Amino acid sequence: MAIVYGGDYNPEQWPRETWAEDMRLMREAGVNRVSVGIFSWAQLEPEEGRYEFAWFDEVLDLLAANGIEACLATPTASPPPWFAATYPEAGMVDDEGRQLTHGSRQGFDPSSDVYLVKALAITEQLARRYADHPALALWHVHNEYGCHNARSYSGAATAKFRVWLRERYGDLDGLNDAWGTAFWSQAYSSWDQVYAPLPTPTIPNPGQVLDWKRYSSNRLVRNYLAEAEVIRKYSDKPLTTNFMTGSHADIDLWEFSEVVDVVSTDHYLVGEDPHVNLAFAADYARSLGAGKPWILMEHSTSAVNWQGRNRAKAPREMLRNSLAHFARGADAVMFFQWRASKQGAEKWHSGMVPHAGTDSKIWREVCELGARLGDLAELEGSRVSADTAILWDFPNRWAQEHEARPTTDLDPQAVFNDYYAALWRAGITTDVAEPEGDLTGYKLVVVPALYLLSHKGAANLRRYVEGGGTVLVTPYSGIADETDTVYLGGYPGAIRDVLGVRTEEFYPLVDATVALASGGTGTLWSEAAESTGAEVRDTYADGTPAWLVNRFGEGTAHYLTTFPDAATLDRIVAAAAGDAGVAPVAEAPTGVEVVRRAHEDGRSWLICVNHTEADAKVKSADAVVEVPAGEVVVHREHA
Ligand code: GLA
Repeated sequence: MAIVYGGDYNPEQWPRETWAEDMRLMREAGVNRVSVGIFSWAQLEPEEGRYEFAWFDEVLDLLAANGIEACLATPTASPPPWFAATYPEAGMVDDEGRQLTHGSRQGFDPSSDVYLVKALAITEQLARRYADHPALALWHVHNEYGCHNARSYSGAATAKFRVWLRERYGDLDGLNDAWGTAFWSQAYSSWDQVYAPLPTPTIPNPGQVLDWKRYSSNRLVRNYLAEAEVIRKYSDKPLTTNFMTGSHADIDLWEFSEVVDVVSTDHYLVGEDPHVNLAFAADYARSLGAGKPWILMEHSTSAVNWQGRNRAKAPREMLRNSLAHFARGADAVMFFQWRASKQGAEKWHSGMVPHAGTDSKIWREVCELGARLGDLAELEGSRVSADTAILWDFPNRWAQEHEARPTTDLDPQAVFNDYYAALWRAGITTDVAEPEGDLTGYKLVVVPALYLLSHKGAANLRRYVEGGGTVLVTPYSGIADETDTVYLGGYPGAIRDVLGVRTEEFYPLVDATVALASGGTGTLWSEAAESTGAEVRDTYADGTPAWLVNRFGEGTAHYLTTFPDAATLDRIVAAAAGDAGVAPVAEAPTGVEVVRRAHEDGRSWLICVNHTEADAKVKSADAVVEVPAGEVVVHREHA
């Protein structure tokens, strides 16, 4: 029983003398697992079909001898130069039709057959050779699928896109119907006329673009499955691949998470509220695994190298970040990377062993974190439970990326972030759920800008509220179905009855806000909504409803017709949480996160992360926990 601790280990970047030191330092820091081989393809197969494994045998043997587990990667995210030179047609094509060249990473077309053949060949070599190696704990398939090449607009992709569309729609009538090709004379009379959406003179067909994104996502999942099938012939160790839950949205992770044995994710601090984004990425990773413990495969000890201005972490910030992930259900805390590189594209990215060496803030915190995680071993396998969910859906996001919509100021990710942040400020532990998923375990479901809501998703939400659930729904939700076809008869057509509202027209706000009778302010959006039975809780100055509350079946639906300022939103979230009977696990000042992890046998802990510069008191039903400024306290609740 131990919490996993470690990071990406890239020994090929260092001379052999360093490897022995690495082992000594890993033991000193309490590292018990590292990911190896992620970017080693060119070293493992320097020429096509010629393999060199002796050096990698040595690395794995060293790890085993030092009691460190290997998370063994297939190196297929970065094909070597020989691949690009021999198979130039397998390179990535960008959305302007440009063929990209080698010299970076992920320089391949995910739809290329020859890429897959070569990727499976090196995968098979590794699986056969290391399936029974004593260091092997877990397979790390590929690396961050689609981080740079999620959509490659190649000829191979067009060919496979056509096959995918035939599987989805059966015949051209189905396709024409789904894409609404009666508009602008776009009706297809042969599959050969269908292409990946390369640049067009003006607005492209939204259905085509949406399906292209679905296809591209599914292609990556299929590539994972192909590698997984090869590994499975030799090994029964679990398989994972590292998602990017806090940042990237090009792959449908609801689909992808169904085929991994354990969810893992990477997270880097981004945005103005980095610890809120961190909490979201962690909650999302946990939700993708249906609540099971998950792996934080990468985060950073300090600065990254890809943000323009790369802020170094303040003292103890890294500890707070790591333990905040742990609080939300991670049983493995890992970094990119073990040793900061001295060359290459990422030489300005922090590592566990920084350029400065071990006489450094980073190294001291790395050792402290290793010791703390060692002390927290009894929490391994404990779970976080949430009675609130916020809905997230990929086709919804993709549909709203289309250029032609009521206002391009409305960014569904920003809306999601605002509502997640309001729940975070309220101290409410939240799952991320899919609109068509099982919602019955939740008391409160937040529906942020869920423009695209499938018929199945709409029926699911209706059933949920009818059965006694509470929803909080924002504008621009339930507008179009899975083919991006508008539900008619007044907005939001998919759930008008649930919300007790009917809107005739949208009035996006242009450089303006709308004053609310309650004193708050609405931004971005307004609409001509009428109550068809809902109680009106707030209005614009002219009496148009701004916040409506409807009883539907046994449940309650809150609907907003604008995006309120943060203080007003906090008030609305508190009201919806009150209706739903949802409360935080403890009372804590703003900026102090508190999450409970519990074992089935009743042992439980409050993990309190104080992001503020003031000492804080966290009050739970039976304890007051003192949490010093900037510190993390794990409070044991059971006797
Ligand atoms: C990603 C990759 C790593 C590294 C880090 C840098 O997460 O998986 O290889 O590039 O970003 O932040």
